[in-house]
Amino acid sequence: MKMNIQVNEKRIYGKRNQMIYGHFIEHFHRQIYDGIYDPESPLADEDGFRTDIMEAMKRIQIPILRWPGGCFVSSYHWKDAVGDERKPFFDKAWRVEDPNTFGTDEYIKMCKKIGCEPYICTNAGTGTAEEMSDWVEYCNLENEGQYAKWRIQNGYVEPYNVKYWSIGNENYGFWEIGAKSAEEWGRLVREAAKMMKHVDPQAELSAAALSDVDWNVNLLKNCGEFLDWISIHEYWDMVPEKNDLATYEQCMAYTVRIDHAVDEMRGLLKAMKLDKKIKIAFDEWNLRSWHHPNVHTIKQGIDKKDYLDPRDKNDDNSQYTMADAIFTASFLSAMNRNCDIVGMANFAPIVNTRGCIYSYSEGIVLRSTYHVFDLYVNYLGDTIIDIWSEEFPTMKVTHKNGTEMELETIDILATKWSDKPGLALSVINKHPVESQKINLSISCEGKKVDLYGISGETPDSYNDVNKNEVTIFKEDLGDFKSNMEIEIKPHSVNIIQVI
Ligand code: AHR
Repeated sequence: MKMNIQVNEKRIYGKRNQMIYGHFIEHFHRQIYDGIYDPESPLADEDGFRTDIMEAMKRIQIPILRWPGGCFVSSYHWKDAVGDERKPFFDKAWRVEDPNTFGTDEYIKMCKKIGCEPYICTNAGTGTAEEMSDWVEYCNLENEGQYAKWRIQNGYVEPYNVKYWSIGNENYGFWEIGAKSAEEWGRLVREAAKMMKHVDPQAELSAAALSDVDWNVNLLKNCGEFLDWISIHEYWDMVPEKNDLATYEQCMAYTVRIDHAVDEMRGLLKAMKLDKKIKIAFDEWNLRSWHHPNVHTIKQGIDKKDYLDPRDKNDDNSQYTMADAIFTASFLSAMNRNCDIVGMANFAPIVNTRGCIYSYSEGIVLRSTYHVFDLYVNYLGDTIIDIWSEEFPTMKVTHKNGTEMELETIDILATKWSDKPGLALSVINKHPVESQKINLSISCEGKKVDLYGISGETPDSYNDVNKNEVTIFKEDLGDFKSNMEIEIKPHSVNIIQVI
């Protein structure tokens, strides 16, 4: 089947916020220590940050970076990790000692070097509303109060002006230290939000929602007036205990579920008349969940160096294939289409574990998912426009739970730029072996057509140390002609620019 694709440039879905290309970094596995922060490494700069990782982060123009957790934050006390007297603490979420040598000042310094917005997640597990608002004071007040003065004394005269704050993490979950009931959550978020906004009225606040109507209604009723964001998290291939990763086709089946949490939240915000005030922050997302073979390391008396073992399964590069890349592209296209309500999304995490960058002592690996960010950030336009086709090819896929479904294999998103002429389309082909011919019905006679894409030899292609199976290729398709046919490779993510 040949697809005839129509674009209506005049029908605009919205101007996408760059922040949907955000990321997350947690004190977990080798994300901070032995990851981006490694003062001993010859690749580190004068402040201890790995320059190769930061350069890769700059290339994908990371707009925002959520920190320090995750579950980690729910027993974290920020005051122990600033100033000269750092107190190591035992991290009760991941059951390891954190030296606290990387704290707020190091995080802000790192964000400045990368050129991204900081986004701080507070301790709503064992922490108090007051501790959260003290943190806002430390970061954002010029010189009033003991905490702003403490920042100045630590050598940081200018306030950090952290605009984005998340109250807590997944505090609905039994796994989270200091988990809360819906009522407790509503009360804590309300008090914390009030105090944080009293310190800095410009601070934008988010708090965790859940796929549970009672929890969300309670939160929004109690705190809607204080919140600017509502936070959702999703990992589709959940395998925290075992390592039975979904097959390529099962990963494709997950792509139809991407919009689900957004649709639910949009409906609720509309019903509560909050959709013009509160936007969705998709605060943590990734196809793969994390695997934690070493959760009992300390109990079993295994040396910490084994905990930091790069052979940790989360860091097995062969697990991040074209399936991950296609899922990531499908997610980003969906968020672009939902740009009226989704204002931020943070891929979890940026480095190591299941991140899009993998680091080792001598360098980094850019996993397949990294190249998807590169394609979307650097090659797509910022305004989402209407696109359709009368027919979409399909394939049968069997979901992990055994149910069969008919899946559309082509996903298309159309964009244009607000500051220059031209169109850029994202075309994803989920089919493992069949290429797809498309025909663009657009009036762009004589404009230049370039295709930038990733595909790899097979759906299982991946990148590793000294192995680059997935990299961005460019095809110069010449000048645009009506009825021009473009061939889309199997298992590929493509940006077609007509400029
Ligand atoms: O990234 C590991 C954990 O996954 C995060 O701490 C938590 O927020 C999510 O469940």
